[in-house]
Formats: sequence, C-alpha cells, structure tokens
Amino acid sequence: MATDTDTAAPALRFEGVGVAYPGAAGQALRDVSLEVARGELVVLLGPSGCGKTTLLKTVNRLVTPDSGRVLLEGADVRAGGATALRRRIGYVIQATGLFPHLTVAQNIGLVPGLLNWEARRTRERVDELLALVKLPADYGSRYPRQLSGGEAQRVGIARALAADPAFLLMDEPFGAIDAIARDHLQEALLEIQSRLRKTILFVTHDVDEALRLADRIAVLRAGRLVQVATPLDLLSRPADAFVRELLGADDLFRRLGLLRVRDLMAPPGDGAEAPGTAAGTEADTDATSASKTSVGSRVDLGPDDDLREALTALLRSEASELPVRDADGTLVGRLSLEALRRVSRPGGAP
Ligand SMILES: Nc1ncnc2c1ncn2[C@@H]1O[C@H](COP(=O)(O)OP(=O)(O)OP(=O)(O)O)[C@@H](O)[C@H]1O
Ligand SMILES: [Mg+2]
Repeated sequence: MATDTDTAAPALRFEGVGVAYPGAAGQALRDVSLEVARGELVVLLGPSGCGKTTLLKTVNRLVTPDSGRVLLEGADVRAGGATALRRRIGYVIQATGLFPHLTVAQNIGLVPGLLNWEARRTRERVDELLALVKLPADYGSRYPRQLSGGEAQRVGIARALAADPAFLLMDEPFGAIDAIARDHLQEALLEIQSRLRKTILFVTHDVDEALRLADRIAVLRAGRLVQVATPLDLLSRPADAFVRELLGADDLFRRLGLLRVRDLMAPPGDGAEAPGTAAGTEADTDATSASKTSVGSRVDLGPDDDLREALTALLRSEASELPVRDADGTLVGRLSLEALRRVSRPGGAP
C-alpha cells in the first residue's frame, strides 16, 4: 500500500531536489540533498530568496520538484494523494493563516473535523492543545482578531499539532512578532519538542533563532545547500566566508551566549570530580546566575547554562574546569576553559 512507511528510512529525505519556477530566469533550488532524522529539528537558514520556503513546500507538495525527489519515511511524497499526505504534516506559516470567521477552537479543530473525529474528542483535543501552547481554556471561544500576534501564533502551532502529525513544517512562524513574545514562543516550542519529538523543518532568516532551536542547521545560498551542521559545528567550523559572515561567527560573546553547556561539556570522567576545580574563597563563588548552585566552595554549571555564563563562572572561579550538574545535583559532565578556547577560534576545530 502507498501508505506503508519504512521505519528504517530517515523521517525525511531530499534527493537531488531541483526546482525551476516557470518563467523564472534561474533555478530556485539546485541539487539539494538532505536527511532529517525522526524527532530532529532542522532549521533552514539563509538570506531572502535563497529557496527556504520552496524547499519546505516540496514536502507537502505545494511545489513539485523538476528533478530529484522527496521521501517521507521512505516513500516518495508523490506516491499517494496530496490530501492524505498533508494530513500527516502540520504546517505553520508566518501569517498564521487562521480563519478569521472561525473561533480559536474551531480553527484548532479544523483537521480533526476533516478526519471525522467525534465532537467530544475534538473538544478535548482543543483543550489539551490550548494548555500545551499555554493559552487559557476560555480563549477557545475568541476570534483571531481578538488575539495578540504572539497568541495567534500559538493558536497556529496548536492547529498544526491538532491531529498529532509526525511532521511539522514551520515557515518563519515567529517572524512578525516582537522580540519578547518571540523569545517566549521559542521557549514554548523547545518545551513542546522535548515532550513530543516531532520531525520538524523550521525556516528562519534569524540566525539567533536558528542557533537556539536547531538540532542541525542547513544553510542555503541561492538555491544550493552550503553546509549542514550542528549549531556548534557551524560556528566553530563554517564551510566558507559566506557561512561565517551569515552566522556572525566573529562575534565571540554573541555566539557563546547562544550555545549551551551541554553542547560542549565532556563526560564526567572517571568519577574524580573535576580536578581543576577551584578551592576558591567564599566571595569568589558567589554565583551570579540563579541556575548555578554552590557546593561547598565550588560553583557548578548547569547543562542548560549558556556558554557565556559558563565562561564568566570559569574566569571567576579561576579553575581550569568546572563540574556540570543537572537539577538533582547529579554530575553529568565537566566544562573546561580549554574547550571554550577551542570553540572561540573562528574556523578552529572544537
Ligand atoms: N511562485 C513563484 N514563481 C516564480 N518564482 C518564485 C515563486 N516563488 C518563489 N520564487 C522565486 O524562487 C526563489 C526562492 O524563493 P523562496 O520563496 O523559496 O525564498 P525564501 O528563501 O523563502 O525567501 P524569504 O526569506 O524572502 O521568504 C526566489 O528567487 C523567488 O523569487
Ligand atoms: Mg520564505
């Protein structure tokens, strides 16, 4: 059957995808090959017009490649019907695309309705999703015009998740929103993703957003894939001057502020607790960040601390490395000044 899925295949795979829009001079995409693993969040990053939206649309067949193919769980997306395909894929667009004449609950319940869910099951799902995106339950009866931009985006995300699709396509979903609301939405998405583990293709031209959200970032330039790498690898080993400039890889403090301790820490080791740890004075260990805990005379790092905080803590402690502990105080790794020094050299290997 066409609906069969191959669980050994990558969740999503682009094979030499090329797109030329009719009447356009050049190609919008050239020979793009990329694999996305199940549960992975891959960000498509690049300047305006580089082909991000086009690549996204080849997945739900809003655009058909002229060459190459797109496989979803091993099956060509062109194999079955477009409608069945789109029901497996949540789609969030920048303008949210909420229907103005439908309430929030009706907007969220749209796909379950199309799938002929019972009214009660749909209602429960709507409540569950409003809670998931942290909107009050009584927002269900509001109309989109009665929402702020950020709230409307949350409804857009809830709607995309309604029928519990394994895949999410998000095209600059937080583009038109002020910095604070955007920050909250990014946090909400990370939290939702840590629970639901969807396979997500997320488009942005905001580098900070990409570094913050992505498991891997795919950099596009003029229709070609330039580099695919983790945020840390991309910053420390940009493929060329274009990537380096795009990422602002020369701005050391900014990039450290966007990466987390967990990305760079070494394993806890042989159980010997961080040999270079300072036996510093009380004053030295007065942690500046609430996320740090003091154990005796020592400052610990948390895996979710950013590397800029970590550098500050390391310099204050005068230690060559610090232990990393999770919320229950379990030793999960250690971070050395040397590791930070290595990633701080643009183009230098971490
Ligand atoms: N329907 C279309 N017909 C003709 N050309 C198109 C069409 N849609 C997009 N293009 C062209 O294809 C190229 C890639 O467009 P695309 O929308 O994928 O870019 P993008 O990376 O999403 O840009 P942005 O960041 O501005 O959204 C651009 O040169 C664009 O002008
Ligand atoms: Mg676009």
